[in-house]
Amino acid sequence: MLTNGRYIVNGSCKLNGEVSISGAKNSILPIMCASLLSNETVELSNVPNLNDVNVLKNLLEDIGAKVNYNENRMVIKNLNANLKKNTVDKEYSQKIRYSVLMLGLMLAKEKKVVMYYPGGCNLGKRPIDIHLESLAKLGVKFEQEGDLIIGTTTGLVGATINLRFPTVGGTENIIIASVTAKGTTIINNVAREPEIEDLCNFLNSMGAKISGIGTKSLVIEGVKELRGTSHEIIPDRIETATFMAAAATTGGDILIKNTKVEYLFEIMRAIQEMGATIEVIDNKTIRVLGPEKLEAYNFETTVYPGMPTDVQPILVPGLAIANGYSKVEETIYKERFAVAKELNKMGANIKFDGINSVEILGVKNLEGSIVRGADLRAGAGLVIAGLVANGETIIENSYQVNRGYENFEHKLRQLGADIRYEEK
Ligand code: EPU
Repeated sequence: MLTNGRYIVNGSCKLNGEVSISGAKNSILPIMCASLLSNETVELSNVPNLNDVNVLKNLLEDIGAKVNYNENRMVIKNLNANLKKNTVDKEYSQKIRYSVLMLGLMLAKEKKVVMYYPGGCNLGKRPIDIHLESLAKLGVKFEQEGDLIIGTTTGLVGATINLRFPTVGGTENIIIASVTAKGTTIINNVAREPEIEDLCNFLNSMGAKISGIGTKSLVIEGVKELRGTSHEIIPDRIETATFMAAAATTGGDILIKNTKVEYLFEIMRAIQEMGATIEVIDNKTIRVLGPEKLEAYNFETTVYPGMPTDVQPILVPGLAIANGYSKVEETIYKERFAVAKELNKMGANIKFDGINSVEILGVKNLEGSIVRGADLRAGAGLVIAGLVANGETIIENSYQVNRGYENFEHKLRQLGADIRYEEK
């Protein structure tokens, strides 16, 4: 498992060939947490081998689970009737953003949780006020002291929760807390990302009663207990988008297998508008052919089914060398423009308005440079930039990329990229 280091990419390359998409990072993490709601065995397949998954495995083991994980399969069994702990160590709380789902899990199983504010990707402010407000509606009292959060309940009770914003993690926390709560919980204005659907389908296969899946409101009838199950993790739509953008930006030709076309409509639209050709072979397979020169494109990131914020740093490198002028507005993480700043070091012409958008005037070429991937998608975007730049690009802080992409540089090499990883 790669820990830290840098990618070294030689540019002026067109990617060609086939790539197979791994299981979704943003599905496996909540599903691993929710597995411990049952005391029976949970078997998961299509599990991506990622740094974040390994950190969460260690966290689950720390609170009393046995986790066997190899060859993209994971077997999780809670060894005790309850969890071994109702506390999340500071190290785990801060090492991985999704430690935040221990709130829902521990309150459901232990009626108490002690943890620290979660860490994770470097995307600017990431408050968890909606998680805390919503769990309070289910009967939780929170105390906070600095970074420490202590939640207690005499027993979770269903309620109607109207989310101010359809937060992904917040929706997941309420689902995990309410599936075994007393009575019915209605959550309005939920996040509708495919990874939320995957979590709901997984929980229903364990005996949960969740309806309204895929709509703006979920109705969850609490059940006494959940049984074990087997479940296959859905394909990663952001990894798919990354290879689509890599094909489009390098003027390559990539056949992308084991994905799911229905998750990709907005991304396909953008990549086509940018001048690439997309052939949908079947509902799991697409072929993307990049043009000689990309066209400018304006877009705004928003909640699903709109353009995902995670795809923004992956499309911007292509726009940096497109014909004409593009405007990109970020409505989810207003300051998520680390990739734009780094691209300017490579000769791009990108201006940040200081609020939440960038204006990009396409340049002829990017030049190899030393850049830094502040978060995992910025790292992936900079690798794409390196693939089309003149000369050598070094992407530092590549630990971030390994958090969310399985065998990234191996997959790229199979497509003809000249990329290597250097451990620091
Ligand atoms: N927000 C609040 N209060 C809250 C919760 C969220 O104000 O209580 C705000 C956030 O500050 C942010 C927005 O709502 O501005 C969206 O946050 P959300 O809670 O939806 O995001 P998340 O659950 O923390 C997940 C993904 C992210 C992805 C976002 C948005 C996982 C493990 N993480 O984060 O993925 O960017 O949804 O789609 O599912 C990535 O994969 O690179 C990544 C960062």
